[in-house]
Amino acid sequence: MSVTIVVGSQWGDEGKGKIVDLISKDADIVARYQGGANAGHTIVINSKQYVLHLIPSGILHPNCICVIGNGVVIDPIALKSEIKMLEENGIDVHNRLFISHKAHLIMPYHKLLDQVREKDAKSYAIGTTGRGIGPAYFDKATRVGIRIVDLLDRKGFEQKLRNNLEEKYNILHKIYGFESFNIDELMEEYLSFDAEIDDLITDTTLYLNNAIQQGKKIIAEGAQGALLDIDHGTYPFVTSSNPTSGGACTGLGIPPTSISNVIGIVKAYTTRVGNGPFPTELNDETGERLRQIGAEFGATTGRPRRCGWLDLVALRYSVMVNGIKDIALTKLDVLDDFDEINVCTSYTYEGRTLKSFPVDIHTLENLKCEYTILKGWKTSLKGVRHWTELPAEVLQYFELIEKFTGAEIKIVSLSPDRADTLIKL
Ligand code: IMP
Repeated sequence: MSVTIVVGSQWGDEGKGKIVDLISKDADIVARYQGGANAGHTIVINSKQYVLHLIPSGILHPNCICVIGNGVVIDPIALKSEIKMLEENGIDVHNRLFISHKAHLIMPYHKLLDQVREKDAKSYAIGTTGRGIGPAYFDKATRVGIRIVDLLDRKGFEQKLRNNLEEKYNILHKIYGFESFNIDELMEEYLSFDAEIDDLITDTTLYLNNAIQQGKKIIAEGAQGALLDIDHGTYPFVTSSNPTSGGACTGLGIPPTSISNVIGIVKAYTTRVGNGPFPTELNDETGERLRQIGAEFGATTGRPRRCGWLDLVALRYSVMVNGIKDIALTKLDVLDDFDEINVCTSYTYEGRTLKSFPVDIHTLENLKCEYTILKGWKTSLKGVRHWTELPAEVLQYFELIEKFTGAEIKIVSLSPDRADTLIKL
């Protein structure tokens, strides 16, 4: 059993990129299992910042092989520019990245459909990233999607593209007045993309299962967060895939029996981008303070993130659904200067205490959070290198989180830099 899954435990942007980068230095393979270029992982190494959307952050370790699994939806433009950016920085990609031939492609009409639907939805808009994620998974589920493997058969690809363009034209032209895409240009664009990444495409399911048999150390990396999961998140305000740990098995084609651990990345407070319920959201000065200190602006869209206190009711639910044993607590330093730190430890709705994380949006939007108030540590954690140097107030914060969720805090991140990380031995 050699697979460790790394999941975002809240609504995404917990800082997975940094933690995956950190633990992948000892890994043989890092494999991404869902989502697309809607994700944005920011990693800082020696003050140089890398933003990755599709390629796992393990690529920054020369000995690590990276995989983009079948569960990911691939935007050729985003992938090509990421490969280019890495190569310009002297990072070898062509011998170290494998892409599943079963992965679906994002087409230009997916992005257009995503954007026009959002505009049309008005008050029901999800606040998507506009990267075509929902429409690409829609095509996958309705069995008209175009997969990487389809690019190998020019005739078959052309037919599938023609069928799709016809169907999408009916929506895009008749409803929104758009002109159709030029099939020849699209064919040319996607076939030249195929030629560029030809040596990267492989049967990653077979590759990963062989690696498991050989006892290789594998990290399965999710994007977004558990509360954005299409099944277990705050539906319909979710993404269109399964960021929860179960998604690693389907998104990579690996068996549940190969999983040895699930690490949950938890931000020391909570953020959310896009619309949807957010029980601990702070629409006040404190929320603005968290946003400014934590630089809470989206890595993909630049949107200001909504900010609030840590929500342990939601986190306990996430720990349960994902089977999280170990927590990596990120951005703890953002709380350095707060006199008091609030933590939501109970939800009440219409005077009743709720026993579990509610499923319906109405309850989620109208419940009241009850807070446990802890004393802040009021000291900079900058430069702290050992667990034993952490102030007593920080340890009390940890104790509350661990007691409430049943998971153990094993890693603490104190800045975006690799060096500012504590590991509990
Ligand atoms: P989509 O994934 O672009 O369809 O967007 C659906 C929802 O997920 C929106 O609320 C997005 O803001 C959110 N979302 C998508 N990707 C991320 C991410 O990487 N971090 C945080 N939120 C995300």
